[in-house]
Amino acid sequence: MDRKWWKEAVVYQIYPRSFQDSNGDGIGDLKGITSRLDYLQELGIDTVWLSPHFKSPNDDNGYDISDYRDIMDEFGTMEDFDEMQQEMRKRGIHLVIDLVVNHTSDEHEWFVESKKSKDNPYRDYYIWRDGKDGKEPNNWVSRFSGKAWDYNGETNQYYLHLYSPKQPDLNWENPKVRDEIYDMMKFWIEKGVDGFRLDAAGSYSKTEGLPDGDLNNVNVGAEYYLHGPRIHEYFKEMNEKVLSQYDDIMTVGEIAAVTVEDAKKYSGTDRQELGMIFQFEHVNLEYKNGDRYSLKPFKMSEFKKVMSKWQTELDGLAWNSLYLANHDQPRSVSRWGDDKKYRNESAKMLYTMIMTMQGTPYIYQGEELGMTNAGYTSIEDYQDINVRTIWKERVLTGMVSPEEMLDTLSVISRDNARTPMQWDDSKNGGFTTGTPWLKMNRNYTEINAKESLDNPDSIFHYMQKLIKLRKQNAVAVYGSFHEYDEENESLYVYTRELDGQKMLVVLNFTGEEKEFHLPKEIEYNKSQLYISNYENDGKIGDKCLRPYEAVVYLYE
Ligand code: GLC
Ligand code: CA
Repeated sequence: MDRKWWKEAVVYQIYPRSFQDSNGDGIGDLKGITSRLDYLQELGIDTVWLSPHFKSPNDDNGYDISDYRDIMDEFGTMEDFDEMQQEMRKRGIHLVIDLVVNHTSDEHEWFVESKKSKDNPYRDYYIWRDGKDGKEPNNWVSRFSGKAWDYNGETNQYYLHLYSPKQPDLNWENPKVRDEIYDMMKFWIEKGVDGFRLDAAGSYSKTEGLPDGDLNNVNVGAEYYLHGPRIHEYFKEMNEKVLSQYDDIMTVGEIAAVTVEDAKKYSGTDRQELGMIFQFEHVNLEYKNGDRYSLKPFKMSEFKKVMSKWQTELDGLAWNSLYLANHDQPRSVSRWGDDKKYRNESAKMLYTMIMTMQGTPYIYQGEELGMTNAGYTSIEDYQDINVRTIWKERVLTGMVSPEEMLDTLSVISRDNARTPMQWDDSKNGGFTTGTPWLKMNRNYTEINAKESLDNPDSIFHYMQKLIKLRKQNAVAVYGSFHEYDEENESLYVYTRELDGQKMLVVLNFTGEEKEFHLPKEIEYNKSQLYISNYENDGKIGDKCLRPYEAVVYLYE
């Protein structure tokens, strides 16, 4: 298999707004990040994915960019960025930035020009259409709910926005737009960044004629903008004009509703498009009919099926990204573990899985501390634009009761992962001396980095060890994957193998003791303990696993 630095990397995602404030305005910033790089180095990660740091009016916390070549006012200056990057480099940390080019902010100068008149040179940078019978050009729905079109009175046309009205979609059909994007990518590469995470990257190409979508779909219209007709042509062009001009740029595309077959097209090793993608199957399993705000019970065998499928079906053909959380998902320990009694054990078990699978692992900030969901009980506490729109659409119209929606939000809202980092037990967890932009999770007095660094048994120290072991054992990175006991609703059992080096992973996903029987196909002469979240010896065999126990062996 083709070996690459970014396949061996362990990535840490920083959501700058919530990481560390350095000037007391309650908003995390670049200087704050720089001041915490020693902490990241100690954890052992070697790559940072930075959520958007560009100039933005913050309708969607930076995912609405008004200048691609400047820094968000609240985050600091270009000098701060350069300094942060130099300090990362000194510590051997690569920097991957967020490329948000499905849309810009409506305050980007391209859009300011574009909306002025139909013959403005920037008109065709966006997707403008005449209305139909006094209504929107088609029935597409925004991914934040509501119509995907907004009307502009001066020019009597509508523009498309797959996200908020302040995030107009760029017109990728226009070669000038694509060239602007490629130039901007070069600008950042030449400043020294090592790669890009491509936001909403499956939506750039829209089907000609923008036909009405199927109304039974939650995301009405998605069949005409996800994996659209020219999407692979665009990535090939981006690769040819930008990525292949430099050495080993890391790319990871965020692609909604992606199947294994699609993934091989976006990121196949023979395709010259992207290095890897984020898929969403394992995090979407609990959404009824694809609706994030309508939940169904979790089933372990379904979860394993999805995880294992991505492991085996991309093997040798494309490369996986491994993640349990990010700034759009709830906290992993609250979701799949037990964020109370077995918080320590279950958080360790979950990351044992992530760090022993084939692919590049991503740790979202705070996951190394076992941070939990926000615990908000009032709608006033939420800030996310997605929460505000869904509240308007479903609660204010009487579709769902406030109590029911608050319950759902406490499980699934994006703000669960956006509460500020918990550095210590001082006021505001050491995140800011001012008022945090988003309310802290109250548990920062017990769950925080200082406590974790002082405690040898902490999730942080376990994660540190997982990272170190992964760096020392190529089998953990490149090994092929084989699952056993697929129907087991409690245990996840699999092996990895590379050049005769073998690894057995046994994970208990429940808060109860569970019997493990060694599959008879597994034969060994010698075995040794790789890691466990409980006391364990290195002997492979039948055993009773304790609540959320994870045990990994190397064997020959
Ligand atoms: C991606 C981002 C999300 C953002 C959206 C629009 O899904 O991860 O945070 O709201 O794109 O840019
Ligand atoms: Ca600040």
